[in-house]
Amino acid sequence: MKQRTTYCGLVDEPHVGKEITLLGWVHRRRDHGGLIFIDLRDREGIMQVIFNPDFDKVAHELAHSLRSEYVVAVSGKVVQRDAGLINKDLKTGAYELQVSHLETLNKAVGLPFMMEEADNVEEELRLQYRYIDLRREKMFKIMRLRSDVTFFVREFFRQQGFLEIETPMLTKNTPEGAREFLVPSRIHEHSVYALPQSPQMYKQLLMASGMDRYFQIARCFRDEDLRADRQPEFTQIDVEMSFVQEEDVMQTIEKLLFHVFKNALNIEIPKNFERITYDQAFADYGCDKPDLRYELKIQDCSSLFEKTELKFLQTVFQTGGKAGGILVSQKQFTRSELESWVSKAMHFGAKGLLWIRFNDQGEAESPVSKFLPENFLQHVKTIMPQAKAGDTIFLIAGKYSEAWTLLGRLRCALAAELNLAKADDYRFCWVTDFPLFEYDEAEKRWNAVHHPFTSPQAGWEGKTFGEIKARAYDVVLNGYELGGGSIRIHDIEFQKKMFAILGLDEEKMQEKFGALLSALQLGCPPHGGLALGLDRIIMLLTHCKSIRDVIAFPKTQKGHDAMMQAPGEIAEKDLEMYGLRFLPKKIK
Ligand code: AMO
Repeated sequence: MKQRTTYCGLVDEPHVGKEITLLGWVHRRRDHGGLIFIDLRDREGIMQVIFNPDFDKVAHELAHSLRSEYVVAVSGKVVQRDAGLINKDLKTGAYELQVSHLETLNKAVGLPFMMEEADNVEEELRLQYRYIDLRREKMFKIMRLRSDVTFFVREFFRQQGFLEIETPMLTKNTPEGAREFLVPSRIHEHSVYALPQSPQMYKQLLMASGMDRYFQIARCFRDEDLRADRQPEFTQIDVEMSFVQEEDVMQTIEKLLFHVFKNALNIEIPKNFERITYDQAFADYGCDKPDLRYELKIQDCSSLFEKTELKFLQTVFQTGGKAGGILVSQKQFTRSELESWVSKAMHFGAKGLLWIRFNDQGEAESPVSKFLPENFLQHVKTIMPQAKAGDTIFLIAGKYSEAWTLLGRLRCALAAELNLAKADDYRFCWVTDFPLFEYDEAEKRWNAVHHPFTSPQAGWEGKTFGEIKARAYDVVLNGYELGGGSIRIHDIEFQKKMFAILGLDEEKMQEKFGALLSALQLGCPPHGGLALGLDRIIMLLTHCKSIRDVIAFPKTQKGHDAMMQAPGEIAEKDLEMYGLRFLPKKIK
C-alpha cells in the first residue's frame, strides 16, 4: 500500500500539478463509459478522482469494479477544474485527481444501508453497524468536537492547577440513588464489585489525601431507566476542591465552560451565569432545570377563581391546592388546536387542562365561560398585566407540586410547538438552595435530594427535614441539567447523623461508607465539587436530540449494545466459575 500524501478533504491549491496519493472510501461512483468519476472520502472530506484510459488503462479498467464503501488507494496528478466545473459545495471542489494508480484495499459487499439513507434507517440498525454510521461527515464533526472539548477541559484544569487522577472502575457501591451494575469475581466467591455511579467517594478521599484540586474525565455506570439524555454508561467531568465555598466551585465551573465554549466553538457565553433558587425555579417554571430561552412563566391564578362555582376548582382549593396558568400571546389558537392541547396535557399526566381564550374583543371563550365573571380579562390583568385580546391562558389545578410539574411540561411543549427556543441560544443558570431531603411516599422514608455527602445550609437546627436546604447547586443549560455538586459534609458526627436520617444503622454505615467515615476523622479538609455530564454538553453543542448521537458506541434506548450484542447470555458452566446460578426468568 502506498503512503498517504494528504487527506482527501485537505487537497488544496499547493497540490495542483503534483503527484499525490489518497487513501479513502468510495463515497459515490459515476460511470460515464469512457470516464469514471469517484468521490473519494476520508475523515477530512471528499475529493473527486477521475479514471481515464488516457491517464492509466489498468487503473481505469479496475475502477469499473469499485462499489460504494470500498477502501482504495489512488495516486495521480492534481489538476485545477475548468471554471464551469467547479463544485462550490465541496471544499476541494476546484480540483480533481487524474488517477494513474489504483489499489483496492478492502471491499464492502452487502452494505446494510447506504450512507445517504443513514438518517432515515432504524436506529437499531445504525447502531448495529455503528462503524458505518460513524463514517458520516456529521458523525466526524461530533466526534471531533467531543475530542476538542475534552482537550480544552484538560487544558483549563491544568492551567488552574488541578491534577487529573483516575479512580477505580471495580469498586464498592456508593448508594447515590440509581442502581449500580455488579461485577462478580472468580476469586472472591459470593462477593461482587460494583461499577461506579460516579467517583463521588473517591474524589472526597482524594481531598482527604491532600490532592487539593482534582478532576477526571470519568466513566460512570447507572442501571436506571433510560431517556434521551441518559445512558447506562456515560462520561462526567468530575471536579473536587479543598478549602472552598460554593462560590469557588461555581466560579471555577463558569470559567471552565467559558474556556471550552470559546476555544472549541468560538462562542462567548456570559462569564457569570444567572442564579435562581430551587423554590423560585419551581414556582416560575415547574421544574428544577428551567429553559430560560423563553418566558411562558407559570402564574398562580388561584385568586382569579376565589369565588368560583366550578366544583373541581372548589375541591382543589379546599384541599390546599392551587390553579396555575400559562399565558400564551405568541399565537391565536383555533378551537381544534386548543382541544388537541387538552389531549396532549392529559397524555403527559394531567387530569384536565382548562383553556380560556380571549377573542379580538377581549371576551373570554372557554368550555367554562359561563362560570367566568364579566370582564374576565380585566381580572386576569391584575396578575398578568401583559394579558390582552387574542391571548390564551392554559390552567391546571391540583396539588402545588403536581400541578406545577405538569405546567412545567406544558410550558416546554408549548415552546417547542411555537418554536420559541433557538438551539444556538445558550442560556445557562445556576439553580441553588435545593432541599436537602425529599420524602419518598412509597417507601415512607427520607432520601437525600443530591447525595448523602451534601452539607446542609447554616440554620438547619430546629428545622423539619423538609425545610432544611442543601449547600448544593446545579448548572442548567436550556432545560437540561448539565451538572450538579455541593459542599460536602466533612464532620464525622454530622455525616453519621445524615446516614441515620436516611435509615442506616451503625453497622450499615461502616459497611457501606467505612473508608469515608474513617477519613473524616483522620485529617479531612473542608471540600466541595461538582460533576458535569460531558455527553449532555456535546448533545447541546451539536443540537442533537439524544446523547446516543454523541457517544461513539452508545447503548440503544433499551440499554442494549446492538453492535456487540451485549449484554449476552452466559453458559451455566461459566457461571459456576463465579459461584453463581440464575433463578428462573421473571415472566413479563
Ligand atoms: P449527578 O448524579 O447529578 O451528580 O450527575 C452529574 C451529571 O452527570 C450527568 N448524568 C448523566 N448523563 C448521562 N446519562 C446518565 N445516566 C446520567 N446521570 C447523570 C448529568 C448530571 O448533571 N457525584 C455527583 C456529583 C457531585 O456531587 O460532585 C453526581 O454524580 O449531566
